[in-house]
Amino acid sequence: MAKAQKTFTCSACGASSSKWSGRCEACGEWNTISEDTPLSAGPATKSLGGTRGASITLTDLSTEEAPPPRTECGVGELDRVLGGGLVPGSAILVGGDPGIGKSTLLLQAAARFAQVGLPTIYVSGEEASAQVRMRAQRLGLTDAPVRLAAETNLRDILTTLDAERPALAIIDSIQTMWADNVDSAPGSVSQVRAAAHELTTFAKKRGISVILVGHVTKEGQIAGPRVVEHMVDTVLYFEGERGHQFRILRAVKNRFGPADEIGVFEMTGAGLSEVVNPSALFLSDREDPAPGSVVFAGIEGTRPVLVELQALVAPSPHSQPRRSVLGWDSGRLAMILAVLEARCGIPFAGLDVYLNVAGGMKISEPAADLAVAAALLSAREDASIPKDTVVFGEISLSGALRPVGQTENRLKEAQKLGFTSAIAPTRSKTGSGSGLNVQKMSDLAGFVGEIFGAG
Ligand SMILES: Nc1ncnc2c1ncn2[C@@H]1O[C@H](COP(=O)(O)OP(=O)(O)O)[C@@H](O)[C@H]1O
Ligand SMILES: [Mg+2]
Ligand SMILES: [Zn+2]
Repeated sequence: MAKAQKTFTCSACGASSSKWSGRCEACGEWNTISEDTPLSAGPATKSLGGTRGASITLTDLSTEEAPPPRTECGVGELDRVLGGGLVPGSAILVGGDPGIGKSTLLLQAAARFAQVGLPTIYVSGEEASAQVRMRAQRLGLTDAPVRLAAETNLRDILTTLDAERPALAIIDSIQTMWADNVDSAPGSVSQVRAAAHELTTFAKKRGISVILVGHVTKEGQIAGPRVVEHMVDTVLYFEGERGHQFRILRAVKNRFGPADEIGVFEMTGAGLSEVVNPSALFLSDREDPAPGSVVFAGIEGTRPVLVELQALVAPSPHSQPRRSVLGWDSGRLAMILAVLEARCGIPFAGLDVYLNVAGGMKISEPAADLAVAAALLSAREDASIPKDTVVFGEISLSGALRPVGQTENRLKEAQKLGFTSAIAPTRSKTGSGSGLNVQKMSDLAGFVGEIFGAG
């Protein structure tokens, strides 16, 4: 048999390469590359010199089957992020920083799914059963019919699941699982991949849903959740800022529902409680209009969310002025500063610029461009945008304002929360329903002149 080519994989982003290096070329992380453990068996087909496989059954595309019945656990924020409940036999990855609340969320989810009738097994590889039971007690879940085990041996876990046949198995965490047929340490890329592969294949075969917990790691020795993202049906990330109580569960991939959907939770002493109206939460600290503060009418997944953007612009003591962004893309900020300078004649040279999305929320929509520009201008000119106004619209490099999707939903949410005006691009499909006074603008220079009397 020919000697197998060595391959190396980055534990942070999953990129593979043919040689080792200290720094991953794909993601730029240091000390994350390690060698993969080769498979012990030969090629998988006879034509390549291996043993012959069995024929597989082929079917056609037409189907009489109904879509799979989904189970809702009753926590609306979780059910929606899953795409409308749990699909039988699906594999779900829940990633997040250590300590963010993954085990708390999943123990609560396990209890709810068990209470609505799904036999549920929770396997902890990180904590002793007694610790998990203490958490259950603190969360008031001791009556939920969840079966619990503390185990890391994958073979024993699969054997048990196969005998017990639950509807849902939660594996906390995938990095602690140990497959004895793979010759490397628990947590290594090879182990995590093999364990995730066996668990997801098992899930499909037996119609058991599995939820894998994955810690986001910064260390090369432990593989991060990105290494298994492609193996699962649904990838959820649990995010939040330390010091803030609320947490966002975000679907970044979902074969059974829309990606980009978010669920909002609040971390309390009694566990995570759902936040049904996140806009109210993200705006709750607003008092009188302050220069630099603008409310953006955004869309997260299928849901409108209003968030406050805050900008601070101040003369810089540095030769290289600071550009600091929290919750938005720094490249996009640079672009908007450049457009303001080139198309509106408003320079930011010599000025430090800080931009925050309030409450630790992260926004990725280009629809926030105009709200960002408004916050920057408001801070720079020391002029407030009226408190009852929401802003949205995309800015092109030419300085033109482009309409964005779901304008009506944005306006409705704003009206629901007591706003009376909106600033939006011309050609926005505002519909007829909204009672908001919508000021339509065709380009950024016009916006600057109209709102700030400059430009
Ligand atoms: N006894 C407690 N009382 C209140 N909050 C707690 C308690 N123990 C842990 N927590 C909260 O739960 C968080 C840990 O959540 P956990 O679900 O274990 O996170 P993860 O599984 O993502 O590492 C802690 O950061 C803390 O905020
Ligand atoms: Mg945990
Ligand atoms: Zn990488």
